[in-house]
Amino acid sequence: TLFTGLMVTAAYLFGSISSAVLICRVCGLPDPRTKGSKNPGATNVLRIGGTAPAVATLLFDILKGTLPVYGSYFLGLPPFSLGLIAIAACLGHMYPVFFGFQGGKAVATALGSIGPIGWDMTGLLLGTWIVTALIGRYSSLASLVTVVLAPLYAYWLKPEYTIAVAMLSALMIVRHRANIGRLINGTEPHILDKTQRKR
Ligand code: G3P
Repeated sequence: TLFTGLMVTAAYLFGSISSAVLICRVCGLPDPRTKGSKNPGATNVLRIGGTAPAVATLLFDILKGTLPVYGSYFLGLPPFSLGLIAIAACLGHMYPVFFGFQGGKAVATALGSIGPIGWDMTGLLLGTWIVTALIGRYSSLASLVTVVLAPLYAYWLKPEYTIAVAMLSALMIVRHRANIGRLINGTEPHILDKTQRKR
């Protein structure tokens, strides 16, 4: 429908606001696309600028998923449309039209966008990320494990969302390909590693 199309466009545009780049700019920090993992996301802002700007980035990026998808959910759009809107928000974050299409991996935005699937799903995903991060101490590994399990969780809890969740997972895995290479050859920095990677 026309309304779904409008929301998809709005979600992409809103997702294209790179909070990591803007927050680093406001805090007088270097552009996150030039330092550390060169990824404009909360993990890399933590590396470059510490906790406060990282938390701000995380919350803003979660909202980029939550606002358009939850808004559309309350306006009564069906699961298929909600899936499209979630994917559009994450594509905005990954390929932002306002930031030279140099975006991030959309882990926070995807987490924010799955709210309407239910708090059990959100809790399970958050729990998986936190437990994996505590055990492995890699942000990227925690994200990858969570993203791989997400379609299984969806299939179990709300099967009508499985395809959309699987598509989001596939996109996020592709965006982590540099991290996967570093994890395999042992050069991925741990989450609280203060020394910036050289690459
Ligand atoms: O979720 C983003 C995280 O998985 C990896 O970020 O900066 O370590 O590549 P980064």
